[in-house]
Formats: sequence, C-alpha cells, structure tokens
Amino acid sequence: MDYNWKFSRTDTIDADKAAFNDNKWRILDLPHDWSIESEFVQNAPTGGGGGYLPTGVGWYRKHFNLPKSALSKSVWIEFDGVYQNSDVWINGNHLGHYPNGYMSFYYDLAPYIRPGENIISVRVDNSLQPNTRWYSGSGIYRHVWLNIANPLHVAQWGTYISTPQVDSSSATIDIKTEIDNNSSVSKNVVLRSVIVDPKGNEIARSESPVSISSKNQTKVEQKITVAQPALWSLVSPTLYNVHLMVLDKGKSIDAINASFGIRDIRYDANKGFLLNGERVKMNGVCLHHEAGSVGAAVPEAVWVRRLKMLKEMGCNAIRTTHNPVAPEFLDLCDRMGFLVMDEIFDVWRSHKVKYDYAGYFDQWSQHDLVNFIHRDRNHPSVVLWSAGNEIGEQSQPKGYEVLRPLIETFHREDPTRPVTTGNDHIADDTKPITPEFLDLLDIVGYNYVDRWHERRELFYDIDKRNHPDWKMVGTESVSISGIRGNYFGSGGFLGPADSTTVYTANMGGVIRAEQLWKFVSIHDYVIGDFMWTGIDYIGESRWPSKNSSSGVIDLCGFPKDAYYFYQSQWTTKPMIHLFPHWNWKGKEGKVIQVMAYTNCDSVELFVNGKSFGIKALQFPRPGNSGGWNRYDVPPVNNTTADLHLMWDVPYEPGTLKAVGRKGGKIVVQEEVRTAGAPAAFRLSVDRKSIQADQKDVAHVKIEVVDENGNIVPDANEPVQIMIEGEGKLIGLDNGNPLDHTSMKSDHRNTFNGLALAIVQSGTKAGTIRVSTNSSLRNASIEIVTARPVEQIPSTPPSAHWHEDLR
Ligand code: GAL
Repeated sequence: MDYNWKFSRTDTIDADKAAFNDNKWRILDLPHDWSIESEFVQNAPTGGGGGYLPTGVGWYRKHFNLPKSALSKSVWIEFDGVYQNSDVWINGNHLGHYPNGYMSFYYDLAPYIRPGENIISVRVDNSLQPNTRWYSGSGIYRHVWLNIANPLHVAQWGTYISTPQVDSSSATIDIKTEIDNNSSVSKNVVLRSVIVDPKGNEIARSESPVSISSKNQTKVEQKITVAQPALWSLVSPTLYNVHLMVLDKGKSIDAINASFGIRDIRYDANKGFLLNGERVKMNGVCLHHEAGSVGAAVPEAVWVRRLKMLKEMGCNAIRTTHNPVAPEFLDLCDRMGFLVMDEIFDVWRSHKVKYDYAGYFDQWSQHDLVNFIHRDRNHPSVVLWSAGNEIGEQSQPKGYEVLRPLIETFHREDPTRPVTTGNDHIADDTKPITPEFLDLLDIVGYNYVDRWHERRELFYDIDKRNHPDWKMVGTESVSISGIRGNYFGSGGFLGPADSTTVYTANMGGVIRAEQLWKFVSIHDYVIGDFMWTGIDYIGESRWPSKNSSSGVIDLCGFPKDAYYFYQSQWTTKPMIHLFPHWNWKGKEGKVIQVMAYTNCDSVELFVNGKSFGIKALQFPRPGNSGGWNRYDVPPVNNTTADLHLMWDVPYEPGTLKAVGRKGGKIVVQEEVRTAGAPAAFRLSVDRKSIQADQKDVAHVKIEVVDENGNIVPDANEPVQIMIEGEGKLIGLDNGNPLDHTSMKSDHRNTFNGLALAIVQSGTKAGTIRVSTNSSLRNASIEIVTARPVEQIPSTPPSAHWHEDLR
C-alpha cells in the first residue's frame, strides 16, 4: 500500500480525523524518509549521532477504497518499519502507538472499515533527540501492506519452517502453522502444505485436518520428507517454497506462500561454523540499515548492488547492526547466499543516549522480540541471533537477569539457532563482563577482541585455554577504513601534507586488520569475524564530517583501497590492487609508498617500464611436501610477513604496472596511470533496463576523465545531473564525508574523480536519459524502463491478498 500518500511536516491537530482536509498536503509514495530530504545542519538536534539531519514530527494520510465484501473479511495493515513513535488511526479510530522505529508491526482494521473510502492517518514523532547513535531516518521509510483474508486464515508471521534433519539423500521439513479463526463459528478445515522445488514443481505435500473454535487460534505441525534435496549454500542458495492452503469443504479459503532453504547448521567449539557439514569461516561485515543518498528508504535494487559488491569482496556474512532490518534485505541474503547474524537491540535497560529504546525496553522488548523472531525465522540466511550490541548490562552484577528472559524467548520461539551478544567488556580492567552473563550465551561474541593488554596479539587464545567449550565469534572488529582516494592530510593519515613521503594507507589500521585476520584464518574454532563496517553510514560523526568512514566501501558504494585487502584474503581469483593513484604533481623525485593487496604469490612492480623488484608474500607460508628434499610447489621467497606489499618509489609521472605470479606463472596484471587534466565526464550504469514500477532503480556512475579516458583521481569538479523521460533522480552523492550538499540536490562536486546518481523509474515504459551539465565535455546515457525484467522481491512474508491501491 505504498502509493499516493499525503504528507505534512507540520504537527497538525485533527489530522487523525477522517474529515480532516489534507488537500494541500504533498503527495508521495512510500517508502519515504523526510530527514534525508533536508539539509545537513550543524545544530540539528540529532547531533553527530544522527548525521546532522533534521528530524521532528511528520504526518501521513492515505485515502483508499474498499469493496463491500471486505466487511466480512479479516483486514489488517502491516508496517515494515516507521521511525519512530508512531500513532495510527483509521477513519478517526486510534489503532495504537508503537515506539520501536525498526520493527515491523500491524493493526487489525476489521472493526473500523467501511465500504468505499477509508482513511489511514499516521503521526510519526522523531522529535525527542538524541534517540540514536547512527542515522535512523524519519517517517514511513519501509513498505506498508494491506492484508485482506478470510476470517479463518494463516496468522501474521504464522508459519515456522525448519529443517531438523538434512543430508544429501533426504531432508525433513518441519512446518508449524498458526491458524486464526476470527469468524463467529467453529470450523473443521484442512491445512494443505505443498512443497514446491525451485523450478515450480510440486515435490511433496501433507494435509492435516484442523478443528478450530470461533475467535481462537490453533497450531498445526506437519513433517514432510524431501528426497535428494538441493541444499541451500553460499555458492548455490537454492530456495524452495511451501504453498499453504486452508481448505473448507475442499475449497481454498486462504493461501500463502513461504520460501525456505534446506540446510544444516552447526556450531562446534573446535571447528567453528559448519554449513551442511562443511566448515565455513564467516568473512563478515557489520552493516547499518541506511544506504547513503537514499537515506533509510532504500529501494531493493540499491541493496542488490551493495550486496553484489560485498560478495565480490569475498564477504559471506553480514551482521545487521544493531536493529531489525527490512524484510526484503533478508530475502536478498537468502537469494544471494549470505549468512546473517540477525541483531535486535543496541540497548536494553541502560541508556546509551537520552531517548533511546531503553525508555521502552521494559514495556516492549518481549513483544518486539517475539515478532522479530517470528518474522525472520524462516530465512535460511539467518544462522545466528544477536540479542544486543555492547549492552551496558554485560558488566552489571544483575545484568544477566535482563539477558535471561531474552535468551529464553529466543530458545522457545526458535530452538534451531544459537544466540550471542556483541560484548566489548570481555577482559576489561574496570568493568569486565560477568561470568553469569557469559554462561547464558550460546556463543560468546567479541567486539574488538584485540582491545585488551596482552590479548591484543593473542586474541581469543587466553579464553580458549580457560574455556575450551566456548564457541567464539568476532561480532565486531576494526576495519581498515579511511576515505576513498585520500592519502594524507585531510584523510587523517599519518603524514603531514608537506611530507616528502606520500603515506598511502592508514598503516595502523592495516596492521591491526592483518594481525587479526592471520589469527582468525588459521584458528578453526573462531567462527569468523565481522568488521566495523562493510559500508560507510551516515551519522556517528563529528562536524564537519556527516558520516562515519569506517567502511571499506564509501557512502556511494565505491570501494576504497581497504576493500581490496579483504578481497585479497577472501577470494582466490587472481587479483592485484595497486595504489595510490599516480597523480602527484609537485612531488617529482619524492618518495611515494606504492602498495599492493594481492592473492598472488608475488608481484613485480614496474615504473615506466623499469622494474622495482619482485616482492612476495604467502600466508600461511607453505612448507615442503612429500618428504626430505622434495618440493612439489616451487618455493616462494617471501619478502614480508605482512599481508600487503610495498615499494618506495621516487615519483615520476607515467605508468605503474604490477605483474602478479602464482606458481611461477603470470596470472594477472594491473596498471595505474598518471591522468591529464580533467576533460570530460563519463557515465556508466549498472542496469540498462529497469522495471517501470516506481520502485526500481539504476545506479549511474559519474567519472571525470582526461583526454585519454583515464579517471582523474583528484578531480573535484562541479556537475549538474539532468534527467529526462520516465524517471527521476532520487539521490546524488560523492562519498565525501565533508560535503554538506543535500543528497536530493541535482548538482554537487565529484569527489576524487567520482560521484553516483541513483535514478528511479516511474510507471511508464520508455527511456530515462541521464546527462551531465558542467564546464567539461558532457556525457549522457539511456536507461530503458520496461516491465517486467529482473525479479526484485516485493512480497511481504505473509501476504494473503494485498493491493497497491494507487
Ligand atoms: C562500536 C559499536 C558500533 C560503533 C563503533 C564505532 O563499539 O558497537 O555501533 O559505535 O563502535 O567505532
């Protein structure tokens, strides 16, 4: 129910009333985030936590028609997320107040609906600040669904599918279904569950008689065997469906579809995590819910692009910090093959900022937790629950008493997955975590395991010796971070701007990341590691920065150098990333650290054709094989114990060339050239054809190039983006934390050669032309809007019948 809502930024008396006149209100489609539409202002009440964007109060109203037949149905409205403190009315009747800004919730509309026009009013109050430590967004920033079903129907989030026994020859599918009977009579019905394979063929079914009295709920359990199942895995994330149907005298009165994966997960104190019996190290990143220039209202296709980039980096696991995510995010993780640590809270009873969720915890946490588990537990991608991040209660003497009921609820509602928390006080001198708290955790989660004294280099080792039974995961660790394309001075790195040396990387960060990864990768018992963060996020910054730059990908989704460090460790297809750029006018003859991240055995660097030598690394170093005096693999003479290579090169303009060898053979080459003056803009697009449905998007990469087509790596050129045809610009950014231009502006400077425009389709099939307007030679590109193309998931988890009601 996303289309044609009315919106006002003024807190208006009587806007809850059906008769209220909203003719002058702005018309928009959901999802919508009003904060990201505003300017960044230093004195915004959110402060740096919320990224200096305004918040306040907003009202939404939706007029929609219902047929007379709806009066005899169950009708409910489902919100995937409203930030925050929302009140909802229908036809002037108050349905409820809901504080949590990230969880999905729903209201029964049946008692209040009428044939013909109905009006939903929503007041969203994000005025109490600060209430967040990162950018939240404001408004109805996720989808809204209207569900209409027979009074006897499968309950909201009422299916629970698990796979208690899985091997390659057969799997048992356990389906527990809750059925609501809102009608005034008792009923005898049949629940039919049909398992459908990825090609759409029925492969098994079960039918169960169900008796259910009036105004009651009942639970049905069905166990179905599937022969030769195609298992859900990271390389082959196969999804099955179950079509659930409620039959009354043989006639279907309610039907829903639920997708699931057949997979076996196990955690072992010595082997770590096993997926379908095979050990998988979690190469993880932490991610916040927002996506740069689109704020918190993130179209699915934006996540598709971001997740593809993470996959190409070799990332296979995501921690959803520190709140429930949009349901479609988990659908994408299911489809694309990611493991998810699904996290619900950043605080329990102890506040981190004045108006955060701690104020609602006592009243709402169990309600929110149960809904969170019910909503998310069918996703095969979700393999681990997290009850909270850096929770104050971890080191309070009675803090475990707050944890216990949360763990009990997780175990009751989903006995198939373990529970952890991200703990930052494991070996703290002053406020260490309590033993009682640790005892309750299924898996001990470490935030910044290299933080404490001698543990910095020993990581998990001391705890492993003292607690051999513990299962351990790095819930959060420092990433290399940095600012894309900045090498000293404003990037905050080591070298002063007038230094004779160009400091290429944040070496402190590089060394920390390398030391940690060396340990994690060779100790099977460490389940994996989740770096803070995969992608930059708005907020958690200090003016003039508006966003955190802790990601290895910037706010636009452009990789930083650090991205390639992880790629070099997490992928095997030969790669070299050579940096910095080679535009150092004025530094002729001065020494520049040239670095390479690679998964090759060795790299030879050439500067304008002259070799600067072969440098070699391998971790772990291979030993000989086969016995005395036999070497099956040619030895690599390492020149470093680090996981990066470095050459000191006196600067001269021209070309850097890196030649990578594996097993003695050249497998990859990489060049970096000195670019000339900015001459033109160049545009490219990630998807040439998108759906004409007002939700789909394409990403247009904007590059400043010289006369020879080389990207100019330090070009900060003003540009305006113009859109003609069947679409609109919904975000324009450059990844620069210090740039305060509004994300909704159609012009800004490029940052270190790049910018990104996000373009959204309308409802008409046709074309969108995107062009630059600048003082350089301009470029333009076309995107086709058609229907249908690629499938982007847009079905709510339990839609019986829903309509977009344009
Ligand atoms: C962690 C915290 C994250 C973020 C990060 C910043 O301690 O869990 O949410 O605040 O620090 O470095």
